[in-house]
Amino acid sequence: MPDTDLLTLQIDHVNILQVRYEQVLADHGYDSLLISSGAAPMRYGDDQSWHFHGYGPFLHWTGLTGFEHAWLLIRKGRKPLLSLHQPVDFWHASLELGQEPWLSEFELRFSEHRCAPELDKVGRLAVTGDPSLLAEVPGEHNSGALCAALDETRIHKTAYEIACLAEANKLAMAGHRAARDAFLAGASEFEINLAYQLATQQREADAPYHSIIGVNEHAGTLHYQYYDVVAPAQSRSMLIDAGVCYRGYCSDVTRTTAGLGEGRFGALVQGLEQLQFRLCGMVAPGVDYVDIHRKTHQGIAALLSVAGLVNDLSEEDMVSEGVTRAFFPHGIGHFLGVQVHDVAGKPVPPPADAPFLRLTRTLEPGMVVTIEPGLYFIPSLLEPLLSGPLGDHLNRPLIGELQGCGGIRIEDNVVVTDSGYRNLTREAEA
Ligand code: GLY
Ligand code: MN
Ligand code: MN
Repeated sequence: MPDTDLLTLQIDHVNILQVRYEQVLADHGYDSLLISSGAAPMRYGDDQSWHFHGYGPFLHWTGLTGFEHAWLLIRKGRKPLLSLHQPVDFWHASLELGQEPWLSEFELRFSEHRCAPELDKVGRLAVTGDPSLLAEVPGEHNSGALCAALDETRIHKTAYEIACLAEANKLAMAGHRAARDAFLAGASEFEINLAYQLATQQREADAPYHSIIGVNEHAGTLHYQYYDVVAPAQSRSMLIDAGVCYRGYCSDVTRTTAGLGEGRFGALVQGLEQLQFRLCGMVAPGVDYVDIHRKTHQGIAALLSVAGLVNDLSEEDMVSEGVTRAFFPHGIGHFLGVQVHDVAGKPVPPPADAPFLRLTRTLEPGMVVTIEPGLYFIPSLLEPLLSGPLGDHLNRPLIGELQGCGGIRIEDNVVVTDSGYRNLTREAEA
């Protein structure tokens, strides 16, 4: 069982959510809200289901990741009612619920049936969850305005949530150390993935997202999704982007390692890490997250210049002419919580110069964000640049050499505190 402090914080967390939810329901004219945990959908034309991932609002309240066909009823002035599905089934096991203190904050029921629990005295009822599971359920389903307001309750993490995210980081870093060791010992992507899973004691399907493990050129595909089972003759680089789910909370960490003898690439990794430290240092209340993204482009320009990858072009021009976008095409990061790309990040769309940015808010205490600059050698993005009017400014031989290392990303999980930031990933690495 987790330590007493965490369990106490969890009770505070539930009480905070009760206050937040009662306010949202009152604001939208509802008396109660029924939340479906979800259920794994079946594969089309098959008798097999996809792996189950629970619905965010249910996880936010309970942290129970594996409970399909569960229901949670939030009511003004009354304990939440948690109904868990426990069928008599000799094909599948039912998950056991640990005897943890937070459960005393709930009215608990078990049901053999998948349907929603009997509801009495619920007044005007709102319902949220996968629409395919709500056909027989009374009430108003998935009101857009209500769901947006519920998403907002997830922006400021409680102390319990931050403790869970810190633990998810600790667990992930054990995996990242094992992955690095496996890579340096000459392992294949597949073997590196096994090393990560063994060290984190987490099957990949239960991770927050499919681990991205790219050796050599594969490190240049942002969300590379395969694993080579054979190691290359020469292991020049490894990018691993992998997290752990702890009590429903996700870590999302990326590390890049240069292979032995890859001095030039190694120097670039160090340069990007220095930039990443500076960007983490910008995290503070009142800072516009878009400014951190823009600062990243300036830092990438400086790095391209120092490394001799781009010559005789000012850093301002590198940014304004889209040179840095070819090397760093994604956003600087996003919110993190019970979903890896947590909700409510974009009250306004991202600016035209940052189309993939998933977070456009001004930072406030309690927010948890990723800071994940990257520098990649992606042929489809570099070729137009090389053949365009700025092509002569690019160092083709060096780009050609480094293309064999794919790319670099360094990603930490950072909490906005009252006066600055707390880097959960570096704490776990120390
Ligand atoms: N692992 C996906 C991301 O970094 O956003
Ligand atoms: Mn991320
Ligand atoms: Mn990531």
